[in-house]
Amino acid sequence: MASPERDPVSGYRTTGHEWDGIKELTTPIPHWWVSVFLATIAVAVIYLYLMPSFAGTTGFLPGALKWTSKGQLAEDQAAAATAQGPWRSAIMAVPLEQVEADPDLRRFAVAGGKALFNQNCAPCHGVGAGGQQGQFPSLVDDDWLWGGKIDDIRQTITHGIRNDDSDSRSSVMPTFGDNLSKGEIEQVADYVVSLSDPAADATRAAMPGAAVFRANCAACHGPSGEGSREFGAPRLNDAIWLYGRGRDAVIRQVTQPRMGMMPSFAARFDEATIRMLATYVHSLGGGER
Ligand code: HEC
Ligand code: HEC
Repeated sequence: MASPERDPVSGYRTTGHEWDGIKELTTPIPHWWVSVFLATIAVAVIYLYLMPSFAGTTGFLPGALKWTSKGQLAEDQAAAATAQGPWRSAIMAVPLEQVEADPDLRRFAVAGGKALFNQNCAPCHGVGAGGQQGQFPSLVDDDWLWGGKIDDIRQTITHGIRNDDSDSRSSVMPTFGDNLSKGEIEQVADYVVSLSDPAADATRAAMPGAAVFRANCAACHGPSGEGSREFGAPRLNDAIWLYGRGRDAVIRQVTQPRMGMMPSFAARFDEATIRMLATYVHSLGGGER
């Protein structure tokens, strides 16, 4: 084989390929490129040595620094806890009602409570606590099932509603589908709808559903549908409906009551955390005292 030709201009050898008089050179890769390439390999080897890398069947190579994202999180959380420590102690040092009286304490509790809420409560109550129609109550209005004083809210968050916590709020609306006739259920539904209609004020008492309501519903929902926080029974004479507005929605609830359920947070959060959540929720609604 003839020795390859040298290009007279660049001094590089040619490959011997030629197209229409244009010859291909064997230009070597530039030094800077080769150095960077070798450097990346070196960095990769150093990284493999220091940081967690290959996974095996029983674990992974931990690396000389023993860094883990879990450890990093724990460290960050510990740092945050240390930073929050004095605030949390301050929140615990006064009765809950007074947390709101101190502007700095209130600001810390509301900011922390908001973050906690978005993480733990928003899946049900919605970001911003607007609730979800037909399922989860809004916490931004001043209409409360179980009570809107800060201590009521604390109690609800701590033990939840209709769960197996022994201090959980509980009460069950009976299923009337078996005890009342279809006609009676329709009558009482018409009556319930009339409770929030001022135009029906004069005629309401004479409605056939009035007696059914008095006998079956008033014990929990109150004689004029004003609701009862003792039983978590919603007000029926206002425009706010948890499970939907109108006759059909009332018939559905009376026939097959929903049992709204909320988990207990007593085991999950310490008291300071619950106080922060209660302060945040209390700051949203009417701020009932
Ligand atoms: C799994 C869903 C779920 C989660 C998570 C949840 N809740 Fe609830 N919550 C409910 C339901 C359902 C009700 C209404 C139950 C009923 O009908 O009485 C409720 C009711 C409440 C009430 C009472 C409202 C009233 O009108 O008296 C408060 C206060 C409350 N939740 C706060 C919270 C906070 C704070 C968190 C987070 C720490 C939270 N909830 C997490 C489902 C949930
Ligand atoms: C033992 C108490 C109790 C009795 C008796 C009772 N309820 Fe209820 N009712 C409740 C509770 C508690 C809720 C809330 C259920 C929930 O949050 O899941 C409720 C919810 C409702 C709702 C839904 C309100 C809304 O905002 O969407 C309607 C409507 C209703 N009841 C109508 C009636 C009628 C009509 C009767 C009589 C036939 C009746 N209830 C009897 C306890 C009772």
